[in-house]
Amino acid sequence: MIQKANNNVLNQLLATLSLVIDYQGSEQLFHAWRVAVVAKHICDEINPNDAHWLFYAGLLHDVGITGIENHPAQHPELKEHDLSDGLRYHPVIGSKIVNEIPGLKRIAPWIRDHHEWINGKGFPAHKKEQSIHIYSQILRMADDYDLRFRAGKGLSRSDLYEYFRSRIGREFSPQMWDAFRSLDSRDLGLFYFEVNDEGKLPHKLKEIMEDLPVVHSIKPGEAFIDAVLKIFGIVIDAKHHYTAGHSERVRDYSIVLSKRLGIKGRELKNIARAAYLHDLGKIATPLSILDKAGPLNKQEWEIMRKHAVYTMELIDSVEVLWELGTLAGYSQERYDGKGYPDGLKGDAIPIGARIIAVADAMDAIKTKRSYKDALSWKTVVSELKKSSGNRYDPSIIDQAIAYITEEKLRNRA
Ligand SMILES: [Fe+2]
Ligand SMILES: [Fe+2]
Ligand SMILES: [Fe+2]
Repeated sequence: MIQKANNNVLNQLLATLSLVIDYQGSEQLFHAWRVAVVAKHICDEINPNDAHWLFYAGLLHDVGITGIENHPAQHPELKEHDLSDGLRYHPVIGSKIVNEIPGLKRIAPWIRDHHEWINGKGFPAHKKEQSIHIYSQILRMADDYDLRFRAGKGLSRSDLYEYFRSRIGREFSPQMWDAFRSLDSRDLGLFYFEVNDEGKLPHKLKEIMEDLPVVHSIKPGEAFIDAVLKIFGIVIDAKHHYTAGHSERVRDYSIVLSKRLGIKGRELKNIARAAYLHDLGKIATPLSILDKAGPLNKQEWEIMRKHAVYTMELIDSVEVLWELGTLAGYSQERYDGKGYPDGLKGDAIPIGARIIAVADAMDAIKTKRSYKDALSWKTVVSELKKSSGNRYDPSIIDQAIAYITEEKLRNRA
């Protein structure tokens, strides 16, 4: 029972992380989920004992794209000469990120080579033939499956067969072709009717995850959760340069304020984690709105406000994080009840959310944004004073001002 629960932590964290990576503005590409399902099925033909590893590698294979404006899944014909550095090295960056997650080191080298071709014309290392692990080739084929599907919506099975056959000896080895061919009609039917259909894909993913074997080498305890949450923060902050380091600073200020208010133990840990994830839902907000230099119009505001609900929904999809959803999502509520998403007022807003709101304001006022320059700590204090009791909880504002004063931040720029 405990093992099953451990598996749920692992699966839900990675499935949600890959979903976060696959947002392009408000559009959800479902690229990683599709690659994971297809890679697992191809690996079932080659070595079923490792199929679950290919599933995880599929979920995380593009984790290195953080900060790239256009997801590689939107470039069906990636040619070496028109690759930006971000695109060219995303497999290497991704493998480094994955290498830091306890228990997942083994999939890192497969991810590093997922754009290599056996004829040496892939990227970034131009590896050839057997120097490319068969599991990297599986990822390549599953990735290409999604790209083909995306490029030609009406692709028939025979078109797909023909396409992959024509890539043998160039992109893939003959062994890969054998594996693809041996997928029986049930499997191919599955790809066509369940994997391609975005309405059915989430159910398919859930079904596969429920059936995955327990991975004893991964212990999804606190250290594992923190390692994965760290990647969530990297993805959030990479979304645009104005918020670089914002998630970490808001977490640090939230810890300071919580401690000053006597909060400790599990509650402190939850607030710290929720603060780190407070902008998670912004991953689904278009950059044109996040980066807008002037004030937002009514329609843009409506889109912007949705991020609080997205934050809660994304966090709630990972059961082990259930205590964090409201702390992060309600950090946009105002003490006077004029905030969003639910218009909660005063103490009805969880204390953690009220703390994160103040920490968020401290960093937002202090740092440069698209709509304003960086301001001094002195200005932060006067702005916080103005918002005390209306926007923010006065007892938390008092602590923030006391902290800024005691730390002599006020004397700095
Ligand atoms: Fe990729
Ligand atoms: Fe990909
Ligand atoms: Fe924020």
